[in-house]
Amino acid sequence: MTYEAITVETNAQGTKGVTLLTINRPKALNALNSTVLAELIDAFAAYQADDSQLCAILTGSGEKAFAAGADIKEMSDKAAADFYLDDFFSPWTSEIVKKTRKPWIAAVNGFALGGGCELAMMADFIIASDNAKFGQPEIKLGVAPGMGGSQRLTRAIGKSKSMEMCLTGRMMSAEEAERSNLIVRSVPQADLIADALKTAATIASMPPMATIANKEMVNSAFEMTLDQGLIVERRIFQILTASEDKKEGMEAFIEKREGQWKGR
Ligand code: CAA
Repeated sequence: MTYEAITVETNAQGTKGVTLLTINRPKALNALNSTVLAELIDAFAAYQADDSQLCAILTGSGEKAFAAGADIKEMSDKAAADFYLDDFFSPWTSEIVKKTRKPWIAAVNGFALGGGCELAMMADFIIASDNAKFGQPEIKLGVAPGMGGSQRLTRAIGKSKSMEMCLTGRMMSAEEAERSNLIVRSVPQADLIADALKTAATIASMPPMATIANKEMVNSAFEMTLDQGLIVERRIFQILTASEDKKEGMEAFIEKREGQWKGR
């Protein structure tokens, strides 16, 4: 598929196994219109299907925004019936989050507001530039988060801060986001992609099946009771012990060499 609103680079900047996806509407601060939505769903499916790619990064083009939200201009004339009948925003969660079993990182390079903040929170983790700003300002438009903000932000930073952000629409700085555990770390904007690529390269160097398993386990912590999650963890661990990569990984450790992964 040829894309018009995103770019995709496999083995990005020479980093083997790492795909860089970039939302490319800088004049609209990378607002998420239906073209971006459709193209991201396609690109994430292609990333998931490509066995040579083991970690992805999602960022925004330009220096100002990761994504300033769902496209307000596109939404302004839509009727409620259209939003409801199309189950508006549902594909993001069902297609991207549920079907992307391999890891991906959001590299937030500026505003991440509304759907932009929600999209970043769908990632496995967020690295941000020091000028990044996060927020759920939908209330100022007479609406509310629609792509998971009220749920994922609350799970990430707790009720008080999340409630305050949703009710006031205020923005959170990268420094506050780091302090509040919304992001892993903030780095100078000029270093953001290099930092994300380095982190993604480390992930891509791990045994691929164990990577998917680790992601599945951590995500289970959000979906299940502690007892259920612990059972899932134990079962996945036990399954991994039957893998060729477990044999190789443990032998490589004992022989003091790097493991050669088969992904099985
Ligand atoms: N949708 C459509 N266009 C947008 C946009 C959005 N979410 N955000 C910015 N743009 C456009 C602006 O309309 C403007 O276009 P023009 O040059 O054609 O006028 C261009 O991007 C640049 O924006 P500004 O001139 O506003 O830039 P600024 O630096 O003065 O302000 C900003 C930056 C504070 C991010 C401001 O653009 C802003 O508040 N944007 C909207 C943020 C927002 O409300 N997001 C939530 C959207 S609703 C949502 O996401 C629902 C959901 O839960 C999924």
